[in-house]
Amino acid sequence: MTPCAHFDDLSKLPTSENITRLRSLNEQVQSCQLCPLSITRTNVVFGEGSPLARVMVVGEAPGKDEDEQGRPFVGRSGQLLRKLLGESFDDLDSEIFITNLLKCRPPNNRNPEPKEIDLCSSYLTRQVAAISPEVVLAVGAFAARTLLKTKLGIGELRAKVYFDGEQVVVPTYHPAAALRGGPLVTTKMRADISLLKLYLEGQASTCPFP
Ligand code: URA
Repeated sequence: MTPCAHFDDLSKLPTSENITRLRSLNEQVQSCQLCPLSITRTNVVFGEGSPLARVMVVGEAPGKDEDEQGRPFVGRSGQLLRKLLGESFDDLDSEIFITNLLKCRPPNNRNPEPKEIDLCSSYLTRQVAAISPEVVLAVGAFAARTLLKTKLGIGELRAKVYFDGEQVVVPTYHPAAALRGGPLVTTKMRADISLLKLYLEGQASTCPFP
């Protein structure tokens, strides 16, 4: 994505109900004080991309770089994720909206706490409702477990397109796991993103979940 693909660029897009809803949600999230992460954050990371995206990517939480820049997935793991997405999508800016479960960085990149996920998840629910993506790529165990309301591990969940009655979800590994775990994890992420693309093209069907 180009650096100018910030959510604020919505002002240049034609107005529709969804865009208006997303913009007012962004304003609300920017001043959120629902949990103590609001004290330690530098920036709220609402997300970026097209409000008309067919695909929504949901990660875990902003890291140091994301907190500093106010943009999702801009650090090392974000660069890997964007590279892999770029292999399947020509124009990430218009085809994808990227966000996280948590909109604020947990100190020292610790795992999100259940209470934080609970408090922040209504923002994600409203983002999904506003964008109405055809499919959500759940990146990492926290996103996949939260979206699919399961305790199963990401290794068991990935490599399938699920429909839980409301939303189509493709779980995959977190790119940080790929950076730690080596080429096999990257290959599996690539396969999951290709599967998502096949679903969009009508060439892969959904499995019921659970
Ligand atoms: N990891 C995430 O889950 N999200 C980001 O935005 C960056 C790193």
